[in-house]
Amino acid sequence: MSEIGLFEAMYTARALRRLKPDPVPDEVIAKVLEAATQAPSGGNAQNWIFLVVRDKSQRQKIGAVYRKASDEVAEIYAARGRPNYMTEEQFARLMKGGAYLWDHMGDAPVLLIPCARKREMPPPEKLPDAVAKRYDAHLAQQDRIWGASVYPAIQNINLACRALGLGTVITTNHILYEDEVRQILGLPDDIFTFALMPIGYPLGKYGPLARRPISEVVYSDRWGEPWTAKP
Ligand SMILES: Cc1cc2nc3c(=O)[nH]c(=O)nc-3n(C[C@H](O)[C@H](O)[C@H](O)COP(=O)(O)O)c2cc1C
Repeated sequence: MSEIGLFEAMYTARALRRLKPDPVPDEVIAKVLEAATQAPSGGNAQNWIFLVVRDKSQRQKIGAVYRKASDEVAEIYAARGRPNYMTEEQFARLMKGGAYLWDHMGDAPVLLIPCARKREMPPPEKLPDAVAKRYDAHLAQQDRIWGASVYPAIQNINLACRALGLGTVITTNHILYEDEVRQILGLPDDIFTFALMPIGYPLGKYGPLARRPISEVVYSDRWGEPWTAKP
């Protein structure tokens, strides 16, 4: 297969939730995993571990947890309503696509679960006074950036799937019942899951994406000052 360009991949890698049940060769999944591990992480810690679930009974158990969690998340979406930048049609499509996956997560031939190992902070007594005094701020910063070290790898998975003709979508609803997923997978206490990605050959088509224009989401130098250049 000839490779597509980076920008084409970024502009067409939409959420593909409808997947064929056909198996994906392990070597293809290995290529996706290698792309994941090329991502940056804080301090190049590479504290990630990827669980590749192909066993049918494991997939079904995880799919059931996803379903249970999604029933709750659907109520949050319904209560929030349609965001004003989406048309009725776009919002309806999002909800319909999401609902399809509630019942089919376990049918994807591969469930890829990017995880990370929690890095402990050194105790305050091991730090110089000036830093120990700000220990709570450091804990809060660690808490905020912890997941940020996994999501670049997750987006690499998204793009690698696109390049290799696979479909996937980043999902996170299962985290509402993460303890159950942790038990199914036998995860050690310091390993946590950051996404659940069904992977398979797509039934749907790639891109184009519906995204807000940069004029709506970018400011120049300070809040409220418009950015005017166009690509
Ligand atoms: C952090 C994150 C969490 C997400 N969680 C879910 C999820 O639990 N279930 C789901 O169906 N989609 C989930 N999505 C997919 C988004 O709904 C999807 O990427 C977005 O609607 C854009 O879709 P598009 O690329 O097809 O336009 C998630 C995406 C991200 C980035």
